[in-house]
Amino acid sequence: MVHSRRKFLQFLGYSSLLAGKVSMLGPLSGCNSFKIPATAPSSEDKLTLASGLNYSIITKYGDPINQKEVFGFNNDYINFLALSPDDLILWVNHEYVNPVWVNGLDRTKANMEKERKLVGGSLIRIKKENNIWKMQVNDPYNRGLRGDTPIPFANGVEVMGSKTAIGTLANCAGGKTPWNTILTCEENYYGFYGERQPDGTISKSLLQWEKHFQNPPEHYGWVVEVEPKTGKAKKHTTLGRFAHESATCAMSKNDKCVVYSGDDKNDEHLYKFISEESSSLEKGTLYVANLERGEWMPLTIENPTLKVHFKDQLDILIHARKAAKILGATPLDRPEDIEINSFTGDVFVACTNNKPKRNYHGQILKIQEDNSDHGSLKFKASTFKTGGHDNGFTCPDNMVFDNNGNLWFTNDIAGNVLNKGPYKGFGNNGLFIVPAGGPQAGEVIQLASAPVDAELTGPCFSPDFKTLFLSVQHPGETSKDLVNPTSRWPDGKRPTPAIIAVQGDLLEKITG
Ligand code: FEO
Ligand code: CA
Ligand code: CA
Ligand code: CA
Repeated sequence: MVHSRRKFLQFLGYSSLLAGKVSMLGPLSGCNSFKIPATAPSSEDKLTLASGLNYSIITKYGDPINQKEVFGFNNDYINFLALSPDDLILWVNHEYVNPVWVNGLDRTKANMEKERKLVGGSLIRIKKENNIWKMQVNDPYNRGLRGDTPIPFANGVEVMGSKTAIGTLANCAGGKTPWNTILTCEENYYGFYGERQPDGTISKSLLQWEKHFQNPPEHYGWVVEVEPKTGKAKKHTTLGRFAHESATCAMSKNDKCVVYSGDDKNDEHLYKFISEESSSLEKGTLYVANLERGEWMPLTIENPTLKVHFKDQLDILIHARKAAKILGATPLDRPEDIEINSFTGDVFVACTNNKPKRNYHGQILKIQEDNSDHGSLKFKASTFKTGGHDNGFTCPDNMVFDNNGNLWFTNDIAGNVLNKGPYKGFGNNGLFIVPAGGPQAGEVIQLASAPVDAELTGPCFSPDFKTLFLSVQHPGETSKDLVNPTSRWPDGKRPTPAIIAVQGDLLEKITG
């Protein structure tokens, strides 16, 4: 038995692992020899955590960050630049506004001007004092990058006659470059200024900002790079325009920066950008995945198949979805976050669901690049975990690996179907862990349950892995009015998005 087990482990690439239970994630590591306690799925309007975890609120929507600006709405992706292990410049995305909780539904210009100041992202300095993370109000590093902040296109590129876009919006997930800048991704941009239709007209958007502001839709749907210390930003056209969920960076074997990004829409695609440089994203090639052939296909104007459909490279990048389909890219089930297991180099892609295809629970894919090189143009794709009642999770969304190779992820069941139909029994959204080793290796264990209608997003570990930062996004989202909110988290009055610090003995044991 030992012999066949060793062979099996060698086959998986874990030849040094000879004892204990091993998951498909990576090496046995850390002190995961204890049993991790789960928290049960819940429909309560509370943030519940597994035994051994606690949380505190760092800041929430509407809190002043300085004398001019407040913390924006619907906080999402979190990352940071560490000034020291306990002193961070935190970047937080603000994906969108729910007008019910801001100024009301009236689509006046004044309301939209206020809404534009609540999306984009916030830079806030936070410090751990007496083991509690606190926002440093009025710190000189605190500033917003908002829906009305002018942001240039990188490398002097001109889009629709302008070298500058007004604002960033729909900032969902993101990434961090090897040179310590933040990437923030413009996801569902068409909900703000609409989208250009084939006949040249602009579709009516959810927030209808196009009613009062004539901003070209082509100025949104990009990856934006931000310097945490200065707030200086630029929009990269090189990474293509689509509903970017995240932008996950790695280095190729020949020292080029590689960025993986998924397009979170039913039947859209998985992309990867290979830069010409090791510390810039301004020049390079965008590829799209064909999973059946295990091939990254370049989206370049030199390709004769594309040349007949597009006038130049920028035209391809603006219409990346169309170019991807012409080349036969594989339609996926809403690719959301992407994370790389640094122990193995495997790339994990959370596909949240694809309801028209009756895939209600989604799956997590694993991409293994040829020669474990992120610069490879060939790969193998497999399913790491399938969502559903048997595996104890549904609709995977944001992910993060800890220092011991354990995979943590959050999920996103839409508010109007929580605990209904195929989602009955899952309760509210939550936080989960898949241990890489120990007695529960490979199992999915729920560690937190969100308040009603909320989604836990942006999981991010502090430098010492003793804190997990999390966004509590859109609590009470399905509320029709202010009088009867579906959630009253966190203050028992009105639902308010907030960022929290999760700490405790259990976390320190898992990441110890
Ligand atoms: Fe903003 Fe795809 O989640
Ligand atoms: Ca997401
Ligand atoms: Ca992530
Ligand atoms: Ca989602």
